[in-house]
Amino acid sequence: MKKDTVSIIDNSTGREEEFPLLKGTLGTPTAEIGTLNKKLGIFTFDPGFMATASCKSAITYIDGDQGVLLYRGYPIDQLAKNSSFLEVAYLLMNGDLPTETELYAFVKEINQHSMLHEALRGFFDGFHYDAHPMAMMVGVVGSLSAFYHSELDMNDPEHRRISAMRMLAKIPTIAAASYRHSVGWPFVYPRLDLEYCENFMNMMFSLPAQKFIDEGHYIDPVTVKALNLLFILHADHEQNASTSTVRLASSTGANPYACISAGIGALWGPAHGGANEAVLSMLAEIGSADKIPEYIAKAKDKNDPFRLMGFGHRVYKNFDPRATIIRETCHEVLEKASMDNDPLFELALALEEYALKDEYFIEKKLYPNVDFYSGIIYKALNIPVDMFTVMFVIARTAGWVSHWLEMMAEPSHRIGRPRQLYTGQPRRDYMDIDKRK
Ligand code: CMC
Repeated sequence: MKKDTVSIIDNSTGREEEFPLLKGTLGTPTAEIGTLNKKLGIFTFDPGFMATASCKSAITYIDGDQGVLLYRGYPIDQLAKNSSFLEVAYLLMNGDLPTETELYAFVKEINQHSMLHEALRGFFDGFHYDAHPMAMMVGVVGSLSAFYHSELDMNDPEHRRISAMRMLAKIPTIAAASYRHSVGWPFVYPRLDLEYCENFMNMMFSLPAQKFIDEGHYIDPVTVKALNLLFILHADHEQNASTSTVRLASSTGANPYACISAGIGALWGPAHGGANEAVLSMLAEIGSADKIPEYIAKAKDKNDPFRLMGFGHRVYKNFDPRATIIRETCHEVLEKASMDNDPLFELALALEEYALKDEYFIEKKLYPNVDFYSGIIYKALNIPVDMFTVMFVIARTAGWVSHWLEMMAEPSHRIGRPRQLYTGQPRRDYMDIDKRK
């Protein structure tokens, strides 16, 4: 066997073929098996993509065993400590950290795109007052394509860039509007004089009858720091379910707004972005520390669908580096919100302590993930529970558009079209209805 190849032998026929073994700058070597079917007449079967790399990417690197997360090579803890969310978004989209001038221009352009077309306001009226904000996000983000016909040539790099900028700029405005529709408050326009997270909090909570900035308690430094941090930690996570959805949808040439809308739909699930909302529901259901053993037993019971939300991760099998960073902030935010004695937080800590000592969780390497803590912080910042996954959308938009830009700039990208292992009926003939039993 040649070096840097793998051999696959079909024992049923005795045929053996060699395939290249690709090596990235970091990480697991990857067998390139695109010609497997042509050479050996077989497919690979890997539901859940346990051992399948779906693309090449230079954006984010994860080492799940070591708990490493790098954006464009920079460790997540360094970015979390020193950066703002928009600086990280620039990094993800463009590949390098911006100079001061570049960042200034980027922020200015994002600000300029943050307004919504007035006609979009009417879309919200079509939603019932109790619609889940994620349902509004899927619908309204998808409908953005109806407003930008003249800049939807995906072969034009400038059209792609401006579409990505629009998405990053407008999604917080749509997110805040979704919340305000649900509570019956008038929509608030974005403000150019506020920083990205401040602006979002202002669009969420300011009331026309109240001089918001003077009151100022939603836009204090601890809140802005916490939001920036959460958005940075959630900004990208390589080929997760929603990013893979965005890439698969994009591979058909669909417009970017439709693709990001598909990603929002995928993020909504409780196994993915919906977990932060599910953690709070779970804590409410558990109710008190004396019930923890009962719920841990449920989580371990194979016949019970209950899972400990905010625990476990497909890639991290040691610790989630995002969880380590966020755990510290949790204390700071709760202290500021005078919630450090909040029963819900105390319950969360007790649950965490109990699960971390349990043999089942140790053996299966199930640790608290980022979303075990993010919901607790959002609650302390007065973000309503059904907006938690929407907050994740705002952050992950930076990652989605970066992956979309990367993929669309790759001239050889092909439509994503997995195959299957068919387990249905073999060929059979149509039977007239009067002969069927
Ligand atoms: N509670 C109880 N048991 C669990 C849990 C859990 N949270 N997570 C995994 N397991 C068990 C699972 O039953 C399985 O047991 P067995 O080997 O006996 O069949 C084993 O651990 C491996 O789990 P898996 O489902 O095969 O692992 P996966 O990689 O397919 O799923 C996961 C990863 C995140 C979907 C899963 O751990 C989970 O459902 N966690 C709760 C939801 C959650 O917190 N999701 C947020 C993830 S972080 C944010 C993001 O990136 O979206």
